[in-house]
Amino acid sequence: MAQLFSARADLFLRLGLLALVVLPLTMAVSGFAYYRSSYYTGVGAYVQQPVPFSHRHHAGELGIDCRYCHTQVEKAAFAGLPPTETCMTCHSQIWTNAEMLAPIRASLATNTPIRWNRVHDLADYVYFDHSVHVTNGVGCSSCHGDVADMPLMAKAEPLTMGWCLDCHRDPAKNLRPESEIYNTAWEKPADQRRKGRALLAHYGIRKDHLTDCSVCHR
Ligand code: HEC
Ligand code: HEC
Ligand code: HEC
Ligand code: HEC
Ligand code: HEC
Repeated sequence: MAQLFSARADLFLRLGLLALVVLPLTMAVSGFAYYRSSYYTGVGAYVQQPVPFSHRHHAGELGIDCRYCHTQVEKAAFAGLPPTETCMTCHSQIWTNAEMLAPIRASLATNTPIRWNRVHDLADYVYFDHSVHVTNGVGCSSCHGDVADMPLMAKAEPLTMGWCLDCHRDPAKNLRPESEIYNTAWEKPADQRRKGRALLAHYGIRKDHLTDCSVCHR
């Protein structure tokens, strides 16, 4: 039988076959990289707000406690956002004419809440609860980063399922004492392993069920 393909066509055929194998692979790999990238998860991207509220200024430099504004964080699933009146306890006295604060004054005058843009927003099929975490040794910064140093709010962690599970499998490595829950500059001590195990017992955390699907998907 004569040569079925010319040498040139044969080369194209080989290249084509190669592409069939290699292309989906590179697409899968780059797709995975995209999925993991901060562009997809939104980590580190500042979110613009109707008023450029600075946590660095208020929680950091002025030292206002997180619970002054996020009043539900220890008691409920939602941390809650402060009503305009909370801002006005101070801003009816200071910076009363600042252009930057005009939306706050308008909000008070017209009795319409400020519409803050969400920075963290889990899909509706995931159940999350703040109080169970912050009353059991998980500090704000384990999930939100060093908030007291943020001029504008940005997501510090991807909040993917894998990220939740990484802690739920072994919470001891992240636990801290009660006194440090609101300290967003907290760092793990060198002997976190040992301290973490003691804290697990201290808070009475049972970790065997924490990776069950029904914990987060109810
Ligand atoms: C003076 C009031 C005030 C204080 C104190 C304060 N916050 Fe906030 N926080 C706000 C306001 C207003 C927003 C909404 C605007 C924004 O996202 O920056 C907010 C938003 C947030 C968000 C993002 C919410 C979302 O949309 O996902 C997190 C997380 C947060 N605060 C954590 C903290 C932590 C941690 C502390 C303490 C270290 C703290 N806040 C102290 C007023 C405050
Ligand atoms: C405990 C008092 C207090 C509360 C409560 C408070 N602020 Fe302030 N805020 C200040 C002070 C003090 C300044 C700084 C003025 C200066 O720069 O010296 C300030 C400054 C600001 C500025 C100017 C930009 C900056 O950060 O320097 C904005 C905007 C602002 N506040 C928004 C808010 C909003 C929105 C709320 C409510 C969620 C709020 N503040 C609650 C005390 C407060
Ligand atoms: C275990 C992780 C974790 C810890 C610890 C944590 N948060 Fe959150 N926070 C989240 C997640 C996840 C969301 C988004 C929830 C959603 O979309 O339903 C969120 C949302 C918020 C919001 C937006 C309003 C809301 O309740 O959805 C605020 C404000 C907030 N957190 C403040 C805090 C403060 C203050 C602390 C510390 C006292 C804290 N968080 C500790 C994970 C955490
Ligand atoms: C840094 C560690 C950490 C991270 C991150 C974390 N968790 Fe948790 N979570 C815990 C610990 C510790 C407990 C157990 C508290 C207890 O029951 O004593 C817990 C408990 C829970 C519970 C209650 C379990 C029950 O028994 O009812 C829910 C729901 C939950 N987490 C959801 C989430 C979700 C959703 C995420 C990700 C968005 C998340 N958690 C991220 C540490 C973490
Ligand atoms: C600790 C909390 C937690 C546990 C336990 C958990 N999930 Fe999830 N799950 C999440 C979060 C967070 C997301 C992502 C939500 C988002 O992207 O907003 C998610 C997303 C998903 C999705 C959507 C597809 C995807 O990958 O984004 C599926 C399907 C899912 N989970 C199934 C499961 C199954 C099955 C189990 C048990 C083996 C399980 N989950 C256990 C927190 C959890």
